[in-house]
Amino acid sequence: MKNRFQEIREHFEKEAADFDKFFFNVMPHYEEMMQALIDALPFNRKDKLRIVDLGCGTGNLSKKLILAYPNARISCIDMAENMLKMAKSKLKGSRNVRFWQGNILDFDYREKYDCIVSSMVLHHVEGNDKPGFYRKIHNSLSKRGVFFCVDIFLSSNCHLQKLYMDKWKTFMKANGLLTRKINDMILRHQREDRPVVFEDELAIMRKAGFRYVDVILKHYNFAVYGGCV
Ligand SMILES: C[S@@+](CC[C@H](N)C(=O)[O-])C[C@H]1O[C@@H](n2cnc3c(N)ncnc32)[C@H](O)[C@@H]1O
Repeated sequence: MKNRFQEIREHFEKEAADFDKFFFNVMPHYEEMMQALIDALPFNRKDKLRIVDLGCGTGNLSKKLILAYPNARISCIDMAENMLKMAKSKLKGSRNVRFWQGNILDFDYREKYDCIVSSMVLHHVEGNDKPGFYRKIHNSLSKRGVFFCVDIFLSSNCHLQKLYMDKWKTFMKANGLLTRKINDMILRHQREDRPVVFEDELAIMRKAGFRYVDVILKHYNFAVYGGCV
């Protein structure tokens, strides 16, 4: 029997070629949220940053990072070979980009990085794995290091949780997705994803040692957040 990890990987392997076309219609404020993450980074344009993009997918966030920090060295990590292929093609010609195929939980975090980012990936990580994962990330950041992330969360309030799901469905419908497709999406989200209550995620980060943990932007269940070493 396939484990969850294999199932998730398989679906991204299949979707890679159409991911960009599809994702902009499914993820509300995707562009704005990635930009908010970039704007939150406390660095100078010319800095020679060491950056990691966890679950880089087709390279949308890494592309923005390269434009914002042309001297940075970026490590793009993803478990799906086909997503990495798309990223390689999108980032072709960029100097200082490395790719690593594998699970972000198994990445060798021994090097020091100035900036670790992630967009729409950590909801795939099981809640039990989160404390250790955040500690690893915290330990691998340099003295000026930061971690920023875009992701989907639950509300602890049932009424708000229902509202968030309704708003999400309305967004997808407005972007032309048929009701059947929307229902499939939501079912897959419930089966494959492991979002947690947002406050709990921030508490885990703080417990792992992160300081100045803050929420940069929140649109219903989607949020941009992060913290410093
Ligand atoms: C929804 S896509 C987001 C891609 C990209 N970050 C973006 O914002 O466009 C999720 C990506 O995370 C990758 N992924 C999910 N869980 C992972 C894990 N445990 N290790 C490595 N990659 C993972 C998937 O293969 C997929 O490419």
